[in-house]
Amino acid sequence: MNTPTKKIVLTGDRPTGKLHLGHYFGSLLNRIRLQNQQNDVKNYEFDQYIMIADMQALTDNAENSKKITSSVRELILDYYSVGLISLDESKPQSTIFLQSAIPALSELTMYYMNLVTESRVVRNPTVKAEREQKKWQGGSVPFGFLAYPVSQAADITAFKADFVPVGEDQLPMIELTNEIVDKFNSTYTEVLTRTKALITKDSKLSRLLGIDGEQKMSKSLNNAIFLSDSEDELRAKIKKMRTCTRAKINDPGTLEGNAVFYFIDVMSSWFNINQSSHPILQEIPIWKSRYVSGGNGNEEYAKDSFLKEQLFNLINQMLIPIRQKRQEGLENIDLIYKKIDSDIKKANIIANNTLHELKCAMGLNYPNF
Ligand code: TRP
Repeated sequence: MNTPTKKIVLTGDRPTGKLHLGHYFGSLLNRIRLQNQQNDVKNYEFDQYIMIADMQALTDNAENSKKITSSVRELILDYYSVGLISLDESKPQSTIFLQSAIPALSELTMYYMNLVTESRVVRNPTVKAEREQKKWQGGSVPFGFLAYPVSQAADITAFKADFVPVGEDQLPMIELTNEIVDKFNSTYTEVLTRTKALITKDSKLSRLLGIDGEQKMSKSLNNAIFLSDSEDELRAKIKKMRTCTRAKINDPGTLEGNAVFYFIDVMSSWFNINQSSHPILQEIPIWKSRYVSGGNGNEEYAKDSFLKEQLFNLINQMLIPIRQKRQEGLENIDLIYKKIDSDIKKANIIANNTLHELKCAMGLNYPNF
């Protein structure tokens, strides 16, 4: 019988801290969706691989390796808390592995470095932007950092990924990967397959702003709500959100640039997507019109404190099960590591296979060694 070939989806995260709502809306939800339709014959059949890119994270954190290793643990708990790792084998699963546990990836990187020129690496716009942002000490960039897009090509091609779901900043990596694929295939033999970026559609949720309501949510900008935030932490962050400058609560307010209404909208989109509901969602249009028009009364719902409390309820309802799962994950961390260990074995078999094919293509299949 002809079994249809599965499409391979591969993504990766640099372990540099806990995941926040920006990651959740921008990529985790998409991964959960892909994972849950893996076996859905009406769609493509997918095998989803998620790589914890610890080696890539070290390219700009060599002196800070402890941060990377503790973030790996947080990341694993984050994955577990949103359902990307499950200990129930009857549930759809993704294959999760650490980059540093797959030696073939480093070997492939060495071979690929010969197929890429220095100028090609240096003009990568994402690398350029990161380089400027980081302001390396003495202005000198680690060599490994410049080479990370090449190693990313190794990550992608080792698994012959058909699709790589990424944000736009990762498009240059996909482009370089395909250049390496073409170069390898034309220099040796056709072993590698081209890959395609799956860009998250530009929805409100895919580029989430931080609690300042201005800049993209990011740990380094100190404007993030983490999936692991406690109720108190969440409340404190919402309290800090800017609304708009009204002298009195009866003055007309503005919704634009108003972080609280921004997040209220974000959360109603989430409830919509998730097909779940919350009794206060219907009230939102009323709050908005009251807020914009101002009024004479002293209605409770015109107050920032009231709106913030409602926003807290919305976000908290989403985070409650995630926090519970995280706690469960902490209690089962050894079993989770065991599951990742078996995923690593599976990933090594695939990557070693690809490496073997490539070595044969390059004539490195010596008879007696
Ligand atoms: N560069 C990616 C990021 O910063 C992480 C990553 C490493 C990756 N290897 C990958 C993403 C392979 C997709 C495929 O987020």
